[in-house]
Amino acid sequence: MTTAAQPPAGVTVRVPGKINLELVVGPRRDDGYHELATVFHAVSIHDHVTVVRAEEWSVRTTGDLAARVPDDESNLALRAAHALAERHAVEEPVAITIDKQIPVAGGMAGGSADAAAALVACDALWGLGLPREDLVSVAAALGSDVPFLLYGGTAVGSGRGERLAPVLSRGELHWVLWASHDSGLSTAAVYAEADRLRGEATVTEPEPSDDLLVALRTMDTAAVGACLRNDLQQAALSLAPELADVIEAGRELGVEGAVVSGSGPTVAFLVASSAAALDLSVGLAARGPEGDIRRTVGPVMGAQVVGPPVPSGPTLHIG
Ligand code: C5P
Repeated sequence: MTTAAQPPAGVTVRVPGKINLELVVGPRRDDGYHELATVFHAVSIHDHVTVVRAEEWSVRTTGDLAARVPDDESNLALRAAHALAERHAVEEPVAITIDKQIPVAGGMAGGSADAAAALVACDALWGLGLPREDLVSVAAALGSDVPFLLYGGTAVGSGRGERLAPVLSRGELHWVLWASHDSGLSTAAVYAEADRLRGEATVTEPEPSDDLLVALRTMDTAAVGACLRNDLQQAALSLAPELADVIEAGRELGVEGAVVSGSGPTVAFLVASSAAALDLSVGLAARGPEGDIRRTVGPVMGAQVVGPPVPSGPTLHIG
């Protein structure tokens, strides 16, 4: 039997997806990344990432979206586990299982969320006891959105998105998300298209808008809706023109605001209440275009341990 003194046989972490309430894209840097001013907002669509001790490193995904997630070394959760092991000289392979609900290649940082969750899960499994701040540098090396998913909530991101400052807000925002059933957009391709559309235009240093930060502090939904902004939206629409119809459908049905999430193609509609979210999701489903329509709220917490995946017992190999 496992006792309290023994390390856990496995750990499950719940992690949210994010939308960007504002995404101001500044100049392209020498390293190929763009300087950003963004307001991240974690929403209640969650993946669950489970790590268990194993003879070999592996990753697999369950759920309807599983076929679109890699199960090799390119998987960001597996890379996260490797990176943490290397940093802390841990030689204990893990088998990772991702229960996927966050849209894949949808502009909601689903892969980054799984990486953040894998860091938190492995930290707990290996008994490293690292504070979140110590996970941030490993997280930032994995991807620009990974640090935010360690914290969740609402936060201003700067640099390439990895430098964070929390945003004061109270209460909840209600959202309806439209996600593509089957196709995603590559983040790198959307940034490249944004550069192409800009051409030679001068790009200034990005700043978050004071109006949005004030609207969040007072939780004035209509004002938040009016401030939603995404500099990648035009590029996402250029690569996926059908999104214009999705946004149009939401506006016709009545919303406080509409914005493409990150690099898309997920579209986030802000509404005034959970009742309005229900009305809108029914309306969108009837009106089309076809997609996965989900109601959600934000802000929510970042990656959190929610428990062991399986009861510990004598048949399990415990370190
Ligand atoms: O950091 P991450 O791996 O998620 O970024 C994926 C791609 O998105 C990068 O390779 C880059 O092309 C683009 N990107 C960017 N500027 C940022 C963040 C991402 O150009 N601030």
